[in-house]
Amino acid sequence: TLSADVNRTTTSVNKTQFGDIVEDINHSVEGGLGANMVRNSTMKENGIGDWSAVTAGGGAGAVALDTTQPLNAANGNSLKLSITANARGQRVGVANDGFYGIGLRPSTTYTATFFAKSDGAFHGGLTVDLESTTGTVYAKATVRSVGSKWTKYSVTMTTDRNTPVFTANRFVIAADGVGAGSSLYFDVVTCRPPTYHDSGLRSDLMTQLAATKPGFFRVPGGNYLEGNTLSTYFDWKKSIGAIENRPGHQDDAWGYWSTDQVGLKGYLDMAEQTGAQPLLAVFAGYTLNHTVVPRDQLAPYVQDALDEIQYVIGGADTPWGAKRAADGHPAPYDLHYVEIGNEDWFDGTGSYNSYRFPMFRDAIKAAYPQLQLIATATVTSSQVDVIDDHYYSGDTSYFTNAAHAYDGTSRNGPKHLVGEYATTNGTNDNPTGTLAGAVSEAGFMTGMVRNADVVIGASYAPALADVSSFQWPTNEIAFDASTSYGSPSYWVQHIFGNNTGDYVVQSSFTGTGLNEVVTRTKSGTVYITVANPTGSPVTTQVALNGTTSIRPKGTATVLTGDPNARNSITAPNAIAPATSTFAASKSFGYTFPANSVVALKVETS
Ligand code: AHR
Repeated sequence: TLSADVNRTTTSVNKTQFGDIVEDINHSVEGGLGANMVRNSTMKENGIGDWSAVTAGGGAGAVALDTTQPLNAANGNSLKLSITANARGQRVGVANDGFYGIGLRPSTTYTATFFAKSDGAFHGGLTVDLESTTGTVYAKATVRSVGSKWTKYSVTMTTDRNTPVFTANRFVIAADGVGAGSSLYFDVVTCRPPTYHDSGLRSDLMTQLAATKPGFFRVPGGNYLEGNTLSTYFDWKKSIGAIENRPGHQDDAWGYWSTDQVGLKGYLDMAEQTGAQPLLAVFAGYTLNHTVVPRDQLAPYVQDALDEIQYVIGGADTPWGAKRAADGHPAPYDLHYVEIGNEDWFDGTGSYNSYRFPMFRDAIKAAYPQLQLIATATVTSSQVDVIDDHYYSGDTSYFTNAAHAYDGTSRNGPKHLVGEYATTNGTNDNPTGTLAGAVSEAGFMTGMVRNADVVIGASYAPALADVSSFQWPTNEIAFDASTSYGSPSYWVQHIFGNNTGDYVVQSSFTGTGLNEVVTRTKSGTVYITVANPTGSPVTTQVALNGTTSIRPKGTATVLTGDPNARNSITAPNAIAPATSTFAASKSFGYTFPANSVVALKVETS
């Protein structure tokens, strides 16, 4: 029997119970959430990598990296188009193949922005278009003239209703004028479809993340925060303001260039626009190549973290709060948690415990006593509010076994964030995992919710992966240049996010094979959330005590199927939840299918 007394609650469910980590891995951000479809926007990734010359009808020209015509101090590289033939009817321009293609959709307006200048010998304008790699033009715009000073251009292009949804497309800017022997220069080139709430973030990905009802976004997450060196960590001050003034940096944790066009504010907006809190991770003086900033050189990094927090929550009359306001967000963001570093147990020197965590903690607490501070490794030298635990395992039963991991946790010590966890069983061809892995994660989640008094929240990791280039085997949502899909683990997040009440209800299960948690809302909706990781259906009696009336029609959301099945770009819904009704009462029998996650919703009064 699975019994629950809906009048007896053990703890509140935290607003931050379920969240996402967003770090730039697998092109999650650069080429993913960041909706700019043009790769190597600023000519800093392998020089002019991803750009080429496009010619037709006898037009001729060549592209090259140019450093003699810097746009500004942050962006000194540009793409030079040397035109050798462009008489009427001839075509010469620059083309970009995007991030493993450019996804086009019918009846969609794309906005392109770029800086351009000529060498003075070119007379005319430009055509900008989106076309297939074989030259079929789907959307087009023109710029009337290009002068000899750097100027920002912005055009819109609309595809017609017959435009096919596919990725083998390119973005082209072509010379439209006279100028054999002349040159054109381009920099900070972007092209975006309509974005999520005009945030600059890719709409389908944000819509999927929002649908899980995240309570927090751990940003910027993971190794991306740290970088390999002190010149490649996430230096937030270089990621705000106008995008042309952001230098970008090598995302050397994961092997590609980050323009930082999403940047700190993009991460904060991402949280705000989905009703979540940002859980801000600040760089803590340790990089992945084991550089540890010495104690006597750490103060500027501590100050940077203070400035960053001021940017996030300082009044618009503070120096960094004023910059946030100037960037378009006068009100402070809803920040409650700040994480100091990432996985600092890798620093084998003990510096995190001996001085790095305490220096950041003391300074942040002094300025912002209301913030809860999260440590990423064991700290004994200083008070810790929350400790961040990470769990990865390729074993599909690992998380089922971890369902009780927090049952015995001391209620007198720090609370816990499970900032990263996943069953890592993706394949070389598919960056998402199986149903079995997801059911096991659901078992772990039942335990984390039951222990919500010590587990403030959890974020499956990583959130996103480009199917054409991923560095981490198993991810929640995968995408190509056109489309995206949620993995079975995504659907588990979706089920919990949409089927968890405000309080944990005291419950017990006397059989074997199931992991369960019961929650209820303030208004009396009860959710019975169960993971059955076994290969057999489990029938049990569900007894709901402590209520006088139960609406006879309950709703069941069921995720089940072949435990080895996974979703993909071509079969995005092979595993997806189904919703149906069932006969609810104070005591009813229910069969939880083999390899399933089930949320039963019952209305009580
Ligand atoms: O989520 C992938 C990586 O796993 C993160 O960057 C890091 O924190 C962890 O080791």
